Amino acid sequence: MLILHSPVDMHVHLRQGPMLSLVAPYTARDFAAAVAMPNLTTPVTDAEQVLSYRESILAAVAGHVFEPLMTLFFRPFSRQELQAVKPHILGVKLYPSGMTTHSETGVAELDQAEPTLALMEELDIPLLVHGEACGFVMDREALFLPVAERWARNFPRLRIVLEHLTTRQAVTLLDRVDRMYATITLHHLLLTLDDVLGGLMQPHLFCKPIAKRPEDRDALQQAALAHPKVFFGSDTAPHPVEAKEAPGCAAGIFSAPVALPALADFFEQHKALDRLQGFVSDQACAAYGLRPPRKEVRLVRETWTVPRRIGTVVPYLAGKPLNWRVDACT
Ligand code: NCD
Ligand code: ZN
Repeated sequence: MLILHSPVDMHVHLRQGPMLSLVAPYTARDFAAAVAMPNLTTPVTDAEQVLSYRESILAAVAGHVFEPLMTLFFRPFSRQELQAVKPHILGVKLYPSGMTTHSETGVAELDQAEPTLALMEELDIPLLVHGEACGFVMDREALFLPVAERWARNFPRLRIVLEHLTTRQAVTLLDRVDRMYATITLHHLLLTLDDVLGGLMQPHLFCKPIAKRPEDRDALQQAALAHPKVFFGSDTAPHPVEAKEAPGCAAGIFSAPVALPALADFFEQHKALDRLQGFVSDQACAAYGLRPPRKEVRLVRETWTVPRRIGTVVPYLAGKPLNWRVDACT
């Protein structure tokens, strides 16, 4: 048996409407809190939208001990706007425009983000960033790293969280830059581009940033198992099956239903089950000064098979056996 104390998922896409009702209970069942990303069809760009999105999430997860941690979609903000919204958000999420789902209104010229970043530094509002810049798809994260490093130099007190790391170079940046942190997903610990495209194309493994090379995955694994500045962010990103199994396949992997059991498998295989608590809660709490609701999540070592479909969505690891199961949450 394994008990996790107040696990938090630091990067989730909970969506809206019927999809929100379908997927949010999976996150709320297994986690005490989760960071809700703001890339809705109309992005969450002001305090009013933050509060109304939070209410819809709470309605969808009624009955669970669960705190949604809200984010604001980056745009140029005034000091007054940021001051007003600060009590309601964990941070501001920056998407370079066009890099992923619903990021069209993201930042086109990264340098133009700097005045708002200066205000965020002054007000101590963390920056969460989709760290990819325009360029060849396999190089986009590497191309963004000099930008991240420049922002860290220009705004030394700004906390910067690089979301869903996929490369070895990005891991090394964490050691060089003081207030820089990162999330790592479950799927980037397990996949390389070979799994997505090396045989028949696998639309349900297609996500942004795309899975990279074996040496990148190995560096991510080492970081997840031991690095104090990384924490779990599943990037669970459901799309209906018809949007995935289609020309123009949508990017995103729905991993919420399997996240903790599959992480337990992974940490156990690496003889590091004692490190899982740090990865799924303590390190994020330390970086953000978070105090998630108290919740004990008990996993038992019992094999089960991941369902092939959950409503309109195919979950990650569909049809595969997992060795750990979430038994109870109190
Ligand atoms: C995410 C989505 O669908 O919202 N997709 C994904 O592939 N990860 C957006 C994102 O985090 O890039
Ligand atoms: Zn995401």
